[in-house]
Parts: sequence; structure tokens; C-alpha cells
Amino acid sequence: MGWIRVLDEGELHTGERHVVEVQEHKILLLRHGGEIFAVLNACPHMGVPMKRGKVTEGREIVCPLHKSRFDLQTGEVQEWTPWPPMLGKVMGAVKEKRPLPTFPTKVEDGGIWIEIAGA
Ligand code: FES
Repeated sequence: MGWIRVLDEGELHTGERHVVEVQEHKILLLRHGGEIFAVLNACPHMGVPMKRGKVTEGREIVCPLHKSRFDLQTGEVQEWTPWPPMLGKVMGAVKEKRPLPTFPTKVEDGGIWIEIAGA
């Protein structure tokens, strides 16, 4: 595992989002409720970019396409493909339920760092 500096701390204000590329990963960084989160910028259902996903007060990020909800910290699935109405279960069956990959973050030496396994 290794920590990689991806942004200056001042480049990510509350409510802002940035996608950074680290090795083969496109990672969405966002600051929410005073914390910094890093998640893979691809919904585990069909790979849709998560950058435009709504973030809830409950620290979840919602996929902009089929509205699956994931815990921002752990990536755990909170709800799997509830949309479109009536078809959500069918859409969910296209791919088995999988968590959204997340990455540890820290602020140090004026920068934002993420930890990548194997880096
Ligand atoms: S692409 Fe995200 S829930 Fe379907």
C-alpha cells in the first residue's frame, strides 16, 4: 500500500469535486461535511461516472443513472438500482450487487493524499 498526493488542500473546497487519475484508477474526490472522501468514479452496476451523483446528508452518494446508493466511507451498498420504477429489480439483476470501491484519505503537508493498495 502507498499514499499518493493528488491535490493541494486548497484545491478542494466544501461541496467541490475533482476526478484524479492514479495508476489505472479514476478517483472522485469530494469534500462533504468537513471530511474528504475518495471513491472510484465508476458505479459498480454499469460503470457510469459518479461525479454527478448526489451526496446525501446521510453520507451516501447516489448513482446518477439508476440511483443506487453507496456509503461514502465504506462504499457499502445502501440500495441497489431502485430506478426506474417497476424496472429497478430487473436492472439490478443485470449485474450482481457490488460495493463502490473507496480509498482512505488524509490531509498532510498542505496536500490531499489517498492510499492505493499496491502503490
Ligand atoms: S449505473 Fe449506477 S445503478 Fe445502474
